[in-house]
Amino acid sequence: MCGIFAYINHLTPKTRREILELLVTGLKRLEYRGYDSAGVAVDAADQKDIAVIKRSGKVAALEELLQEHIVDLSVEDSVDSHCGIAHTRWATHGEPSATNSHPQRSGEDNAFVVIHNGIVTNYKEVKVFLENKGYVFESQTDTEAIAKLIHHLYCQHKGYSFQELVEQVIQQLEGAFALCFKSRYFPNECVATRRGSPLLVGIKTRRRLSSDHVPIMYTNNKATRGVVPSVPRVNSHAHFQPEEEREVEYFFASDASAVIEHTNRVLYFEDDDVAHIKDGVLSIHRLSGSSTDPHQREIFTLKLELQQIMKGNYEYFMQKEIFEQPESIVNTMRGRLNFADSSVTLGGIKDYIPEIKRCRRLMLIGCGTSYHSAVATRQLLEELTELPVMVELASDFLDRNTPVFRDDVCFFISQSGETADTLMALRYCKRHGALIVGITNTVGSSICRESHCGVHINAGPEIGVASTKAYTSQFVSLVMFALVISEDRISLQKRRADIIEGLHQLDTKIRQVLALDKQVKALAEDLYRQRSLLIMGRGYNFATCLEGALKVKELTYMHSEGIMAGELKHGPLALIDDSMPVVMIVMRDPVYTKCMNALQQVTARQGRPILICEEGDKETMDFASRCLQIPKTVDCLQGVLTVIPMQLLAYHIAVLRECNVDCPRNLAKSVTVE
Ligand code: AGP
Ligand code: GLU
Repeated sequence: MCGIFAYINHLTPKTRREILELLVTGLKRLEYRGYDSAGVAVDAADQKDIAVIKRSGKVAALEELLQEHIVDLSVEDSVDSHCGIAHTRWATHGEPSATNSHPQRSGEDNAFVVIHNGIVTNYKEVKVFLENKGYVFESQTDTEAIAKLIHHLYCQHKGYSFQELVEQVIQQLEGAFALCFKSRYFPNECVATRRGSPLLVGIKTRRRLSSDHVPIMYTNNKATRGVVPSVPRVNSHAHFQPEEEREVEYFFASDASAVIEHTNRVLYFEDDDVAHIKDGVLSIHRLSGSSTDPHQREIFTLKLELQQIMKGNYEYFMQKEIFEQPESIVNTMRGRLNFADSSVTLGGIKDYIPEIKRCRRLMLIGCGTSYHSAVATRQLLEELTELPVMVELASDFLDRNTPVFRDDVCFFISQSGETADTLMALRYCKRHGALIVGITNTVGSSICRESHCGVHINAGPEIGVASTKAYTSQFVSLVMFALVISEDRISLQKRRADIIEGLHQLDTKIRQVLALDKQVKALAEDLYRQRSLLIMGRGYNFATCLEGALKVKELTYMHSEGIMAGELKHGPLALIDDSMPVVMIVMRDPVYTKCMNALQQVTARQGRPILICEEGDKETMDFASRCLQIPKTVDCLQGVLTVIPMQLLAYHIAVLRECNVDCPRNLAKSVTVE
C-alpha cells in the first residue's frame, strides 16, 4: 500500500515551485498509506529531460531535499502545461532507500518514469526477459521492471501512443497495481491505470463541467500473453474535454484525501482502465468491453471532509484496519500461494529452506500481539514440521538467558520491526549462531536488516496503536511457512490441501465475520460498564483469548484475562458467578468435548457465558446467554476468524467508554525501549 499522486495542469500557468508544493501536499495527505520513502518526477528546467528527486524517509525529508534543488529546477519559472508525478512508499520489494524509492525509471536518461502502488508478482520473469535484452536494473523493486518494459515496447513500436504502450505493459503484468507514467517522449502527457489497487482522478475547471461522465474507448484487442504483443488500433473521439474553455487541471490519486482541497469532482477507475491525459483531454481506454460494463465512468461530486476520506468513512484507523483484513490477508498471500497448483513460495526464505529443514528446534519470539500470532500457529507448526516449537515473549526469553544453539531456527515476529525487546533477543540468538528469520510488516526495519532471511507480511501500514490486521497477516505468514516446510511430506498432502483451500476462502469468511459488527456492538453496549471480562478457550483458539484480552485491556482500560479453558478448575473457576462477564470460544475442533466440559462447569456455577461458536451449532448454543456464530474453516485457521469479533468488541467498548481508540493512554505504536 502506498500513495500515488500526479498533477497535470493544462493551459493553467503555474510556477515550478507551485507545482512542487502541490505534489508535496498531495503526498502529505496520502502519507498515512505509506511513509518509508517518497519521490517526485517533474520536467527538468530545460523542459526536455525529466528530473527525478527521491529519498527514503517521510515526505518532510523529501521536502528538505527539494529545497536543495531550488536552483537547478528554476522554481520561479512558470509553465503553462506540465505533468508531475509523486509517490509515498510502503516497501514490499527492497528496503527503503533512494534507489528503491519511486518514481522508478527506464534508464539513466529518465525516458520513462513510473510510480506504483501494489505488488507485481511476475516481475522476476519480466526482469529476466529485459535483462536478456540488455537492460541493467539498479533497484530491488518489482516496479523497475515496469519502467523498463515500457521503454522496451516503445523501442519496438515507435508509432504507438503513450496509452497504447501502457495497455501493452499491463497485459504482461500479474499481481496488483495502480500506476502512473510520465515520459520525455510524451511531454505533458500522463497515463494511469489500475488493477486491484485504488486510483481516481480529480478534475478541476473554472466553470461547471458540461458532462458528468467519460465514455470508454475499446481497443477490442484479444489479450495476448508473451512479452512482445501487437496492437490493432481504433480511433474514437470519446473522451472528456472541458467545453468552451480549455484550461483544466487533473489530479490522479490513490484516494480522494489528496484531491479534495483542489476539487470535489472525481472519477473512480475500474480494474484495467487506462486513463490518458493529452492536451488537456482525458480519455479512458479498455482492451475490450463486457456486457455488464456501463461503457462510461461517472464523474462524482464528493461531499466528504478530509479526515473522513483518510479514514475511508471509518471513525478510527483501528476500525478501518479491522475492516481491511479481507484485503490485507490476500496481500499477504499474493504471489506466494498459487491456488491453481497448490504451491507455496516464500521468496525471502527460499534459499534457507534446506538449512531450516535440518534444524533441531524452531523458536518463535515476539511481544504483545506478535507473540500471540506465534501462540496461534504453534500447534500447526509442530504438526507440519514435526519439530519442537518454542514460543517466547522476547523480554522473558532474555531474562532467562535461554540456551540457544547453532542448529536452532529463531523467528522474530514484529509488526514494526523495531521493538527493542524483540531486537535484543534477535541479537542474542545471532550471537549464539542460530539462523534468524524475520517476520515483519516494515521492510527495511532493524529486524528486517538484521535477519538472515524473512517474510514480509505485506499487510500495509498499521496506524492504530492496537494491532489488528498485522496479527492476521502474521498468522497467515506463519501458516504459509508451515506449508512450505511440509511440501514434500507425502503423508501430509491431504492436510496441506485442506489448509490451502481454507486460505483460499479465508477472505470471504472474514467478510462474513465482519458482517457481525452490529451484533458485536449490541454486545458491547451490554458489557461496557463492567469492570472485568474473562475470555476462555483452548487448542487452536487459545491465542484468540490472549489476543482478545490484550485488545480489551489496551483499548478500554477494563481488566481482561485470556484463560486456557483447561486451567479453569485449577483456579479461575473461583471467579465465576452470575455477574462475571465471560466470553467462551467453542468450535467443533479436536478439543470440542473438552471445551464443552468447561462450558458446563461455568454454567453450573450460574455463569452466563457469551459464546463464539460455529454457525448453526444449536447444541452448543443452548448453553449460552448470547452467541456470535462464526463460519467454519479448517481448525488451524479458525483463530483468524474467532479473533475478529474480539477486535470488534474491544473497539466498540472503547468507543462507548470514550477512550482514545487509535492512541490508547500510556502506549506507543513502536516500543523502542527495553
Ligand atoms: C498490540 O495491540 C500492541 N500495541 C502491542 O502488543 C504490540 O503488538 C507489541 O508492542 C509488539 O509490537 P511489534 O509487533 O511492532 O513488535
Ligand atoms: N511494490 C512496490 C515497491 O516495493 C510498491 C510498494 C508500494 O505500494 O508502496 O516498491
